Amino acid sequence: MTIKQVLVTGACGEIGQALVGELSKRGYKIVTADFMPLPDSIKNFSTEHVQGDLLYKIKTFYDYDFDIIFHLAASLSSKAEIATEEAHRINVEGTMQLLMMAAYRSEKYKKSVKFLFPSSIAAYGMGTIDAKNSAGAVKEEDWDNPQTMYGCNKLYCEKLGMYYGKFYGQKHLDENPPHFLDFRSIRFPGLISAFTMPSGGTSDYGPEMLHAAAQNKSYSCFVRPDSKIPFMAMPDAIKSLLMLMDAKKENLTRTVYNISAFAITAEEFRQRAIKAFPNADIKFEPNLRRQGIVDSWPQDVDDSRARKDWNWSPDYDVDRFFDDYFLPEIRKRYS
Ligand code: SER
Repeated sequence: MTIKQVLVTGACGEIGQALVGELSKRGYKIVTADFMPLPDSIKNFSTEHVQGDLLYKIKTFYDYDFDIIFHLAASLSSKAEIATEEAHRINVEGTMQLLMMAAYRSEKYKKSVKFLFPSSIAAYGMGTIDAKNSAGAVKEEDWDNPQTMYGCNKLYCEKLGMYYGKFYGQKHLDENPPHFLDFRSIRFPGLISAFTMPSGGTSDYGPEMLHAAAQNKSYSCFVRPDSKIPFMAMPDAIKSLLMLMDAKKENLTRTVYNISAFAITAEEFRQRAIKAFPNADIKFEPNLRRQGIVDSWPQDVDDSRARKDWNWSPDYDVDRFFDDYFLPEIRKRYS
């Protein structure tokens, strides 16, 4: 059996670092790409690291024979709101160029290339706080009116992925063997890792608060106590990407899937932090801009399609997240 070759862009980010470790267990040949050098923790898992601006590096990837691409590189929501043009360049142009490369290889070598793309709850835009409070768990096709540059970028790239996967070239499905760009996407909630820190996102208040409490550092939370969005443990996020990658194409009824684990408020995070670390000093000082972003995201998402089509279910509900994953790991890390 030939060894599968995988490309992971944004490999130094939080998802990237966790994913590369898991992919290496499967024996894949992993090529990583990132603006930054690879951290020591995953250096040994990468057969080659392409460092630099992805847009300038993509042309070199035309010579590689990738079976699977995880395109994780992105400018996250808070950062993207400050540098919109740069975000568009990274999030949209980078994705577009990579999709073109993957579609070209699929067409030229008559083989399917899987393209896994992390989208986000930022693709939703709830319009008003009343709408957010009354909408319940939203389905993929509802409220798709993003109110951030990052959300617009993600929603548009979902569409670009569908275009290159289904319509570009048009005739490849009739050819023998049938081949296509096999685009698959997950709209992630806020992710929390016990091992890495987020940066540039808006769901970052959750992990920042917990990591600060564990280190006995005071923390000023940039959203109101009642702010509620869905969150997920990083191991579940990695599990979902691998499950969707492995899912049989014929079982997939769509290209973009919600996934969900637990939805809690910033105040509930504070209560959990104080329970675990009684000296935690956490106050709320909402930042208007970042509060507006969180207010535009749904309180929860409906992941029934993922559950039905590829048997998705998270390992960590809120109690298991704290008791079995986050707190034991974080205590080890900061002890
Ligand atoms: N965690 C991301 C952010 O806050 C959302 O996908 O930008």
